[in-house]
Amino acid sequence: MKKILIINGPNLNLLGKREPEVYGSLTFESYFDTLKSKYSDVELVYFQSNTEGFLIDKLHETGFSFDGIIINAGAYTHTSIAIADAIKAITTPVVEVHISNVFARESFRHHSYLSPVCKACIAGFGLDSYRLAIESFR
Ligand code: DQA
Repeated sequence: MKKILIINGPNLNLLGKREPEVYGSLTFESYFDTLKSKYSDVELVYFQSNTEGFLIDKLHETGFSFDGIIINAGAYTHTSIAIADAIKAITTPVVEVHISNVFARESFRHHSYLSPVCKACIAGFGLDSYRLAIESFR
C-alpha cells in the first residue's frame, strides 16, 4: 500500500472558517475523511502545524520512507528557504498544492520558494487540488 502524507501549514487549521470566499466552507478534517474513503487503497496520513520547524521535522521524519508528500505550506510558501531546503534534502517526491489560484492574487503570492524543489505544483482547484496531487502519485 502506498503511503502518502498531506502536510498543511499555517492557518490551514482554520479551513471552513477562514475567508470562505477564497478557501471554501469545508473543514480539512471532513475533506480528509472523503479522501480516505475514496482512496482506501492508499495509506493517507495528515499533519498540520502553524510552526515552520514542526513542518520541517515532519518532512525529515517521513521524507525517506513515504511514497509521496503533498504540501500546502500556506504563507511559508512565499517566505521559507528552510522548508525548501528540507524538501531538497529528502528523497520522497513532494507536490506543492494551493487551494486558491495564487497567481490571480496579490503579487507577493506569485513567488514560491518551494516550486523549484517540488515535483509539481497544483493551484487553484479548491480542495480538489489535494485529490489531483494524490492522483499524481498513483
Ligand atoms: C494558500 C495560498 C497562500 O498564499 C496563503 O498564504 C495560504 C493558502 C492556498 O492554499 O491557496 O495560507 O497556500
